[in-house]
Amino acid sequence: MRFDIITLFPPIFAGYLTQSLLAKAIDRGLVEIHIHDLREWSTDLKHHKIDDRPYGGGPGMLICVPPVVHCVEAVQQMSEQPGVVVVMTPQGDRLDQRRVEHMARFDRMILLCGRYEGFDQRVIDILNPIELSVGDYVLNGGEVASMVVVDSTVRMIPGVLGDEKSSWDDSFSRGNRYLESPQYTRPPEFRGHSVPEVLLSGDHQRIADWRTAEATKKTRLRRNDLFKSEGG
Ligand code: ADE
Repeated sequence: MRFDIITLFPPIFAGYLTQSLLAKAIDRGLVEIHIHDLREWSTDLKHHKIDDRPYGGGPGMLICVPPVVHCVEAVQQMSEQPGVVVVMTPQGDRLDQRRVEHMARFDRMILLCGRYEGFDQRVIDILNPIELSVGDYVLNGGEVASMVVVDSTVRMIPGVLGDEKSSWDDSFSRGNRYLESPQYTRPPEFRGHSVPEVLLSGDHQRIADWRTAEATKKTRLRRNDLFKSEGG
């Protein structure tokens, strides 16, 4: 799977791309990530400005349409595989596991990270992207949101996780509507807190029943909405 990320702040991605699962997936050729600096498509050769004041007044600055459209067109040409264009914005459809599983089937995504007050509307009208939000709160830009998209989709790619069962069992995966039951590892006792006896029993059926009961209890307590919602 190939990701092209268009951003005004390429260095933000440096650490993220070199660590852990993602770095391994890149090393093993399962994932490709290319970062593109939007400023390189600025028509202002002197200051590389890409933003301007909104027509009609209002606070802040907007990202102008020409550099974004030129950049996306150029990035599309960098691979034969056409990329699905995704704009990260708090106004977008809310990302959830169902959508992650859908997007994990794309061969290529071009993620556009907004900044300031967002994009000129014509970016949306011309590129006709998927508009995606990672939650009902406002981030300083789309960079962290785009990392959420990359992180959540790459773990669905076969071979990225060491043990494929680990994403299979995830909360929310495949329409799973249960939060996970509590998990424990050694030591069996710490500061008076003991591991539930059933987990040490070796009785697989009792353990499975306990986990189901705990997951149900936790979900009911914290996310009763999951039982009511369709599919997700
Ligand atoms: N940019 C700023 N806030 C965002 C959000 N919640 N989701 C996606 N992109 C954003």
